[in-house]
Amino acid sequence: MIGVFDSGVGGLTVTKEIFKYLPEYQVIYFGDTARLPYGTKGAAFVKKYSDKITEWLLDKNAKIVVIACHTSSAWASDFLKNKYTNTPIFDMISYASKEVVESTKNKKIGIIGTPGTIKSGAWSKALKQLDPSLKIYTQACPLFVPMVEMGFTKGQVTETVVKEYLKTIKANKVDVLVLACTHYPLLEKLIKKVVGPKVKIINPAKSTAVEIKKFLENNPDIEKQIKKGSDHRFFFSDEPYNLEKISHLCFNKKIDPIVRDPFNE
Ligand code: DGL
Repeated sequence: MIGVFDSGVGGLTVTKEIFKYLPEYQVIYFGDTARLPYGTKGAAFVKKYSDKITEWLLDKNAKIVVIACHTSSAWASDFLKNKYTNTPIFDMISYASKEVVESTKNKKIGIIGTPGTIKSGAWSKALKQLDPSLKIYTQACPLFVPMVEMGFTKGQVTETVVKEYLKTIKANKVDVLVLACTHYPLLEKLIKKVVGPKVKIINPAKSTAVEIKKFLENNPDIEKQIKKGSDHRFFFSDEPYNLEKISHLCFNKKIDPIVRDPFNE
């Protein structure tokens, strides 16, 4: 199985890309709705639960792990990769950063994410390692997550908030904008409208899914261990709010959640 985890329902936008590029594999998803949001928590908390979830996924027979949560990718990816050396672990930054560097012409990049992701500096570090001459403009957009979860993915109110958050990034004339949060692809149309057609918007889940596909093609020994099939399972540590709406936005259908908190039993 491919193990995918997130702080809640947002990781379904990442799962959507996994289904698109890796349709034959069975996915086991864990959304930590009992402890969400991760985006405003401290690094130690995010690391601790990212670790517990990874262990849980491995216990459930996941053969590779995808850190769908961008905040976990920012705070916990190195830690998890160093701890679980026998398991291929994919985060939302390592592979997408190559796409970002290859996409910019004016070398001005915008990164939007949760306060935690922005505070971690993980994106700036990854991008500067690839090209130290880049100019990186970051912006935390903490209202985006609750807006999406409450179903505000379009309309006047949402547009006003998007405009407000993207003011500085827009003024700095970036030509690439990274959606460094699971929920933001659900606002992509509005974000595009606000930043204009010349700005390339990157959803890191796409290049990561492509990278996983390549990885499995090059590592048949791991590939053959991953269970195939469409019997996907979606675990949540507490009742997911508005799951029906989010799963419709991602998959055009309802998914059946399995609700249990393995860390509080
Ligand atoms: N999944 C989180 C992320 O991508 C957003 C939601 C949260 O703050 O927990 O960073």
